[in-house]
Amino acid sequence: MASDAELFAAAEAVRARAYAPYSRFHVGAAILADDGKIYAGANVENAAYPIGNCAEASAIAAMIAGGGKRITRLYVTGPGTAPVTPCGGCRQRIREFADQDVVVISHGVDGAPLSQTVAQLLPHSFGPEYLPK
Ligand code: THU
Repeated sequence: MASDAELFAAAEAVRARAYAPYSRFHVGAAILADDGKIYAGANVENAAYPIGNCAEASAIAAMIAGGGKRITRLYVTGPGTAPVTPCGGCRQRIREFADQDVVVISHGVDGAPLSQTVAQLLPHSFGPEYLPK
Protein backbone atom coordinates (compact mmCIF):
# COMPACT_ATOMS: atom_id res chain seq x y z
CA MET A 1 0.00 0.00 0.00
CA ALA A 2 1.26 3.46 -0.94
CA SER A 3 2.45 5.69 1.90
CA ASP A 4 1.33 9.26 2.40
CA ALA A 5 4.81 10.31 1.31
CA GLU A 6 4.27 8.56 -2.03
CA LEU A 7 0.84 10.16 -2.43
CA PHE A 8 2.28 13.58 -1.62
CA ALA A 9 5.07 13.03 -4.17
CA ALA A 10 2.57 11.98 -6.84
CA ALA A 11 0.37 15.01 -6.15
CA GLU A 12 3.37 17.33 -6.32
CA ALA A 13 4.66 15.74 -9.55
CA VAL A 14 1.34 16.26 -11.31
CA ARG A 15 0.86 19.72 -9.78
CA ALA A 16 3.97 20.79 -11.68
CA ARG A 17 2.03 20.05 -14.88
CA ALA A 18 -1.16 21.92 -13.91
CA TYR A 19 -2.61 24.18 -16.59
CA ALA A 20 -3.65 27.21 -14.58
CA PRO A 21 -2.66 30.34 -16.53
CA TYR A 22 -5.63 32.33 -15.23
CA SER A 23 -5.57 31.71 -11.48
CA ARG A 24 -1.89 30.70 -11.36
CA PHE A 25 -3.03 28.48 -8.52
CA HIS A 26 -1.57 25.08 -9.32
CA VAL A 27 -3.24 22.11 -7.62
CA GLY A 28 -2.36 18.42 -7.66
CA ALA A 29 -4.42 15.47 -6.46
CA ALA A 30 -3.35 11.85 -5.99
CA ILE A 31 -5.84 9.06 -5.37
CA LEU A 32 -4.92 5.74 -3.85
CA ALA A 33 -7.51 3.47 -5.44
CA ASP A 34 -8.93 0.08 -4.52
CA ASP A 35 -6.66 -1.58 -7.10
CA GLY A 36 -3.61 -0.39 -5.16
CA LYS A 37 -2.60 2.09 -7.85
CA ILE A 38 -2.10 5.84 -7.57
CA TYR A 39 -4.06 8.02 -10.00
CA ALA A 40 -3.07 11.67 -10.23
CA GLY A 41 -4.58 14.77 -11.77
CA ALA A 42 -3.99 18.51 -11.93
CA ASN A 43 -6.32 21.44 -12.47
CA VAL A 44 -6.95 22.29 -16.12
CA GLU A 45 -8.32 25.78 -16.66
CA ASN A 46 -9.91 27.27 -19.75
CA ALA A 47 -10.29 30.74 -21.28
CA ALA A 48 -14.01 30.12 -20.75
CA TYR A 49 -13.42 30.20 -17.00
CA PRO A 50 -16.37 28.15 -15.67
CA ILE A 51 -15.48 25.01 -17.61
CA GLY A 52 -12.09 24.53 -15.97
CA ASN A 53 -11.48 21.25 -14.16
CA CYS A 54 -10.26 20.90 -10.60
CA ALA A 55 -7.34 18.60 -9.80
CA GLU A 56 -9.63 16.24 -7.90
CA ALA A 57 -11.93 15.86 -10.92
CA SER A 58 -8.92 15.15 -13.14
CA ALA A 59 -7.64 12.51 -10.72
CA ILE A 60 -11.05 10.83 -10.56
CA ALA A 61 -11.18 10.76 -14.37
CA ALA A 62 -7.71 9.18 -14.43
CA MET A 63 -8.83 6.56 -11.90
CA ILE A 64 -11.89 5.59 -13.92
CA ALA A 65 -9.92 5.54 -17.17
CA GLY A 66 -7.22 3.41 -15.54
CA GLY A 67 -9.56 0.81 -14.13
CA GLY A 68 -9.74 1.88 -10.48
CA LYS A 69 -13.20 1.87 -8.97
CA ARG A 70 -13.02 3.33 -5.45
CA ILE A 71 -10.99 5.99 -3.68
CA THR A 72 -9.31 4.64 -0.53
CA ARG A 73 -7.21 7.74 0.24
CA LEU A 74 -6.74 11.12 -1.43
CA TYR A 75 -3.99 13.70 -1.19
CA VAL A 76 -4.44 17.27 -2.47
CA THR A 77 -1.59 19.76 -2.71
CA GLY A 78 -1.48 23.42 -3.58
CA PRO A 79 0.65 26.49 -3.06
CA GLY A 80 1.05 28.41 0.16
CA THR A 81 0.60 27.42 3.77
CA ALA A 82 -3.17 26.94 4.04
CA PRO A 83 -4.41 23.41 3.31
CA VAL A 84 -6.05 23.27 -0.12
CA THR A 85 -9.35 21.64 0.67
CA PRO A 86 -11.64 20.36 -2.10
CA CYS A 87 -14.29 22.75 -3.42
CA GLY A 88 -17.94 21.96 -2.81
CA GLY A 89 -18.44 20.34 -6.19
CA CYS A 90 -15.39 18.14 -5.76
CA ARG A 91 -16.55 17.03 -2.32
CA GLN A 92 -19.60 15.58 -4.05
CA ARG A 93 -17.45 14.06 -6.80
CA ILE A 94 -15.22 12.41 -4.21
CA ARG A 95 -18.23 11.19 -2.26
CA GLU A 96 -19.46 9.26 -5.30
CA PHE A 97 -16.34 7.06 -5.22
CA ALA A 98 -15.34 6.99 -1.55
CA ASP A 99 -16.75 5.58 1.68
CA GLN A 100 -17.61 7.98 4.48
CA ASP A 101 -14.48 7.15 6.50
CA VAL A 102 -12.01 7.67 3.64
CA VAL A 103 -9.36 10.24 4.57
CA VAL A 104 -8.66 13.29 2.41
CA ILE A 105 -5.37 15.01 3.19
CA SER A 106 -5.09 18.65 2.17
CA HIS A 107 -1.71 20.24 2.00
CA GLY A 108 -0.50 23.72 1.20
CA VAL A 109 3.05 22.62 0.50
CA ASP A 110 4.57 25.19 2.83
CA GLY A 111 2.22 24.38 5.70
CA ALA A 112 0.94 21.49 7.76
CA PRO A 113 -1.28 18.78 6.26
CA LEU A 114 -4.92 18.63 7.31
CA SER A 115 -6.66 15.22 7.37
CA GLN A 116 -10.44 15.03 7.13
CA THR A 117 -12.85 12.21 6.37
CA VAL A 118 -15.33 12.35 3.54
CA ALA A 119 -18.09 12.57 6.18
CA GLN A 120 -16.43 15.64 7.70
CA LEU A 121 -16.00 17.29 4.30
CA LEU A 122 -19.58 16.65 3.21
CA PRO A 123 -21.91 15.83 6.11
CA HIS A 124 -25.36 14.32 5.52
CA SER A 125 -24.53 13.95 1.86
CA PHE A 126 -26.58 12.58 -0.99
CA GLY A 127 -25.23 9.60 -2.87
CA PRO A 128 -25.98 6.75 -5.25
CA GLU A 129 -27.65 4.61 -2.57
CA TYR A 130 -30.50 7.13 -2.36
CA LEU A 131 -31.56 6.46 -5.92
CA PRO A 132 -33.90 3.61 -6.80
CA LYS A 133 -32.15 0.56 -8.24
N1 THU B 1 -8.74 24.07 -7.49
C1 THU B 1 -8.53 22.72 -7.54
O1 THU B 1 -8.10 22.20 -8.57
N2 THU B 1 -8.80 21.99 -6.43
C2 THU B 1 -9.14 22.51 -5.23
O2 THU B 1 -9.29 21.77 -4.26
C3 THU B 1 -9.33 23.95 -5.08
C4 THU B 1 -9.27 24.76 -6.34
C5 THU B 1 -8.39 24.86 -8.68
C6 THU B 1 -9.55 25.37 -9.48
C7 THU B 1 -8.89 26.54 -10.19
O3 THU B 1 -8.21 26.06 -11.35
C8 THU B 1 -7.85 27.05 -9.21
O4 THU B 1 -7.65 26.00 -8.29
C9 THU B 1 -8.26 28.30 -8.47
O5 THU B 1 -9.50 28.14 -7.89
